[in-house]
Amino acid sequence: MTSATDTEVTTDVATAARALLAGELVAFPTETVWGLGALATDPSAIAKTYAAKGRPRDNPLIVHVADVGAALTLFLEWPGRAAAEAILRAFAPGPITVVIPRPPSLPADVSAGLETVGLRIPSHHVAQALLRAVNAPVAAPSANVSGRPSPTTRDGVLASLEGKIPLVLDGPRGEIGLESTVVDCTGDVPTLLRAGAVFVEALREVVPTLEVVADGEALARSPGTRHRHYAPTCRVHLVSSEARGLPPGARYETSAYIGLSSPSKEEPFCLVRVCASAEHYAHELFEFMRHADDAGAALLVCEEVPVAGIGLALMDRLRRAADVASP
Ligand code: TXA
Ligand code: MG
Repeated sequence: MTSATDTEVTTDVATAARALLAGELVAFPTETVWGLGALATDPSAIAKTYAAKGRPRDNPLIVHVADVGAALTLFLEWPGRAAAEAILRAFAPGPITVVIPRPPSLPADVSAGLETVGLRIPSHHVAQALLRAVNAPVAAPSANVSGRPSPTTRDGVLASLEGKIPLVLDGPRGEIGLESTVVDCTGDVPTLLRAGAVFVEALREVVPTLEVVADGEALARSPGTRHRHYAPTCRVHLVSSEARGLPPGARYETSAYIGLSSPSKEEPFCLVRVCASAEHYAHELFEFMRHADDAGAALLVCEEVPVAGIGLALMDRLRRAADVASP
């Protein structure tokens, strides 16, 4: 059982780095979503991460380092090494995670006992400053209680983890708002496990053989996709711009809406967010899910977007949120 803890908020990177090195948990911003950091080489710190999040023990964590040089010190020799290195050199620092064989310097607990590990180099300046100050790998899942949407603001972190973690390193909101693209580089063919802001089209310019697995296989290969994800408390309902309308029994007055087109006068939603682009929609989605819950909405209506560019990642998150909330 986790006992209650006072959660402090600091802007001092050195304080946050000291806490991590002492085996404490520290939440920090990245360009995708906020991370809940723990020293990756410290199994007891890793255990605290799983406890604070209520995260299933079979869901591996992503390890964060400051730059490609630090990442390469964790690389073993294996057939997919060239692809993993090429991806990092092309897209890191940035919203990309490569899954590689786990080196002996990282404990099995970090990746839920798997022989592989996810590795990421965030570009957000606060994450960069923290990783440079710690000068050691930092394991960081999204800083939410397991099953909830990933937080994209400090207040989102506090809403989920206040009283469960000792420290939050404050900083500006990241520019993306959805979690990193995950590519498995452990096999013969690099394989997309989670869509994000590094697009398939761009990845294929670097690794032309990249495969995109069907949902069922991603499920088997990326343990995290098996678990409940991205869902607010209220029910999520997807609509297309042509075929709108509420599910039976729902009312506009108790429903929130997010999408690219504006609702009409005949759709008096209680809370509305109209986004200027799919990128803007991706940036706003998780925070808007939280606002919808806070406003007591019974339903969140989300407009679908074309499945291209960031639309692939956005539709993936929307479908998961809608699925888990459906009866
Ligand atoms: O943008 C992000 O990736 C954020 C920020 C904080 O860096 N982190 C994040 O972590 O989203 P998390 O734990 O919420 O999601 C990690 C995903 C899960 O779906 C997990 O199953 C997958 O990556 N993953 C991690 N290690 C893996 C491994 N060794 N093999 C396959 N999938 C792995
Ligand atoms: Mg997560």
